[in-house]
Amino acid sequence: MSATAIVLAAGEGTRMKSNHAKVSHQILGKPMISWVVDAALAGGCDRVVVVVGSHADEVRTILDARYGSRAEAHVECVEQTERLGTGHAVRVALEATGIDAGPVVVLNGDLPLVRPETIERFAASVADGGAAASILAITPPDPFGYGRLELDETGAVIRNIEQKDCTPEQDKGLLECNAGCYAFAGALLAAHIGEVGCDNAQHEYYLPDMLEILRSHGGRVAAMHVDDYTEGLGVNSRGQLAQLTCIARDRINARLMAEGVSIIDPTQAWVGPDCTVGRDTVIWPQTFLIGDTHVGEDCQLGPQSRLTNVRAGDGCTIDETVAIDCVLENAVDCGPRAYLRPGTHMLNGSKAGTHVEIKKSTIGEGSKVPHLSYIGDTTMGSGVNIGAGSITCNYDGVGKHKTVIGNDVFVGSDTMMVAPAEIGDGALVAAGSVITKPVPADALGVGRARQTNIEGWAHKHREALEKKYGSK
Ligand code: UD1
Ligand code: MG
Repeated sequence: MSATAIVLAAGEGTRMKSNHAKVSHQILGKPMISWVVDAALAGGCDRVVVVVGSHADEVRTILDARYGSRAEAHVECVEQTERLGTGHAVRVALEATGIDAGPVVVLNGDLPLVRPETIERFAASVADGGAAASILAITPPDPFGYGRLELDETGAVIRNIEQKDCTPEQDKGLLECNAGCYAFAGALLAAHIGEVGCDNAQHEYYLPDMLEILRSHGGRVAAMHVDDYTEGLGVNSRGQLAQLTCIARDRINARLMAEGVSIIDPTQAWVGPDCTVGRDTVIWPQTFLIGDTHVGEDCQLGPQSRLTNVRAGDGCTIDETVAIDCVLENAVDCGPRAYLRPGTHMLNGSKAGTHVEIKKSTIGEGSKVPHLSYIGDTTMGSGVNIGAGSITCNYDGVGKHKTVIGNDVFVGSDTMMVAPAEIGDGALVAAGSVITKPVPADALGVGRARQTNIEGWAHKHREALEKKYGSK
């Protein structure tokens, strides 16, 4: 069955009080709009039309970045230049695309937790001459702001009444809420969308009015109630954004634990929806896995680590570490307090220790940068030890330069490697050196002033001080 999705994302999002599109706000590192589009794609919609308007460029950029290069994901945008309501948004989409057949699933763009299975069931309910429309119904603990569904004795929908148009009795008495997820028989939707008016409290064209219109034409409109009301929660405010973030976190953490991941405190681990974590990995509190992050088995993550677009193998320890766009192979040891910046590649058994920053560098197998170092634009072989406080001086104020360190090199503490720098295999660099010339393989590189001792100097100095100031 092929279905089309129309995702409504043109609204102003006034209640968010934001300078950005409402649907650009993130839940666990992923913009709301991407949650909805992903659910539509996974739910079998082979074409997704996103209605953009307010902050259209921002929404287009998000969609381009995520779906632009994926040939199998047909995601396109239609612009609603005037925001006259959800019914108007759907009309604009139908007119722009010419969609007039097949199941059409309409999803509010602020409905991030809808499940793909639900979308699939929805599309099926209107396919092959089934219902004219179906609507997702929930009974949330706080129905404030939701449209209320009036049902007949068979459970079919008579109409939706927006809360602002409800009488006090309707506000109290109608418990089923419209989640903002609909399926329509495309031909009927296209034929009758023009009949939606705007004679209501907000003077807007309400999409849910289509339900009553289709019924008046003899169509059956089904309410599809989901017991897990969280699936139908919308985001209109910052409070709801925070609430849905917690719900998404709990859902993901429950899945991970079922798959064999230990989470010390599931209220304090935030794992993005696209991340994966292997068995027997332990997630300590205050840990965030964001974006395209994938961690293998038997790792210790956190406490207090943030990994964004990181690939980590098995057996890694990532303690109090911030890592972005990095690859860590197996048994890599990071932190506490390591900062691994984009382009860092840590090979098997390597280490980035305490107060260590690494950028755009390869750290070879078993190599160690244990304390207080900055390593940038560097290729490091295997079995290297970098002494405490050593730094690659990769920036001359204008350009960045590379450092190449061979295998089995020992760099003494507090060494400055002024790039471009080269240290050959098996070489040793004396502590406190400033390295400005290549160090050949197996050589000792020393770049520091020679030590001189002046016998008795300290004693004489003390005597002179005592004479001047008197004894202590
Ligand atoms: C809407 C429903 C309400 C339902 C609730 C579920 C209507 C009239 N009301 O209310 O019955 O209970 O969702 O969360 O549909 N949008 C456009 N163009 C517009 C207006 C809105 O694209 O002209 C988009 C918004 O960006 C948003 C979605 O449509 O993603 C819903 O709009 P919103 O203003 O959030 O509607 P609600 O008041 O939440
Ligand atoms: Mg809403």
